[in-house]
Amino acid sequence: MKFNITIIPGDGIGPEVTAQAKKALNAIADTYDHTFVFKEALMGAVAIDKTGNPLPDETIELCKKSDAILFGAIGDPKYDNDPTAKVRPEQGLLRLRETLGLFCNIRPVKAYDKLIKNSPLKENIIKGTDIAIYRELTGGIYFGEKKLSDDGKVAFDGCTYSVEEIQRVAHLAFKAAQNRRKKLTLVDKANVLETSRLWRKTVTELADQYPDVALDFLFVDNAAMQMILNPKQFDVVLTENLFGDIISDEASVIGGSIGLLASSSIGKENALFEPIHGSFPQAKGKDIANPLASILSASMLLDHLGLYEEARAIEKAVEKSLELGITTEDIKSEDSHATSTSKVGDFIADYIENQEDSNINFKNIHMGQSTII
Ligand code: IPM
Ligand code: MN
Repeated sequence: MKFNITIIPGDGIGPEVTAQAKKALNAIADTYDHTFVFKEALMGAVAIDKTGNPLPDETIELCKKSDAILFGAIGDPKYDNDPTAKVRPEQGLLRLRETLGLFCNIRPVKAYDKLIKNSPLKENIIKGTDIAIYRELTGGIYFGEKKLSDDGKVAFDGCTYSVEEIQRVAHLAFKAAQNRRKKLTLVDKANVLETSRLWRKTVTELADQYPDVALDFLFVDNAAMQMILNPKQFDVVLTENLFGDIISDEASVIGGSIGLLASSSIGKENALFEPIHGSFPQAKGKDIANPLASILSASMLLDHLGLYEEARAIEKAVEKSLELGITTEDIKSEDSHATSTSKVGDFIADYIENQEDSNINFKNIHMGQSTII
């Protein structure tokens, strides 16, 4: 089959990691006889440098026309350290989410057996953890009214949610729970926030339509603690935009590295796939960043296109790279050397094309030679 895929490499390590995801997708195309037509688009600090705009119109147009969007990372220290900057890279991503209506952000968090020791958390606490975080992505305080008083001494960020905004993401979370362990936890701050009380009421009413799903509630402060104390209690976690941003970074500790966490952002017409990590400017251009979050985002992209077997092939290759210790510095084990970003990508692509352990030249794996005999 033929698909149009827009790649937005973005800032920092974005270009390096999306290049590896593209290798994996090309390997899938070869192996399963598909055609992926890739087009690149600008967003973020690179787009500001080239056009003055963090989200040029051509990028929006290209994204609208494509079957899926693969995005790298956004952000640059020159803006982080200048709170007065009027134009900021992150505006590009936020505007793209808003313009394309990507209201549902799904962030799977899993403790890979091979990486349990890489997490600072204890093995008995995290082993077996498997969570899907459903984060509302186009509402709440991210998109509310913003104000700064004329004298610059008072700032305001408004948080708004409507029943409709809550329902559409909640439906997807309930459906996901039905296909998983049938538990949904709504994370809110209903003891303090009016918006959270609307979330609770709306989600409670929806629960009647999903009688096979057990619904429970946690205040976000407690949820942050429970995520570390006992993450196995969670199946699907549903929450609003800001809480989801924070909880998902926290949850990434369970997986051993934030460099592993992929996500999909789904709207009615479009879908975008991106790692949850940032642009990691310190690693930019060094070929050391972990490409697995981007590669796993490509796997979520294939699921979205209905290419399930192909998506599993990417996951299998990723698991194999972890098993063999063909990994970047952030998740290397005591008995393995760190491999570069591009070598991890090469291995994943090779494995997808062969998928037979007997074809792997284990001896040469760490010497930068082709891994396939
Ligand atoms: C994320 C990021 C973004 C967010 C930033 C870059 C605007 O942290 O996707 O989690 O806060 O949503
Ligand atoms: Mn974030």
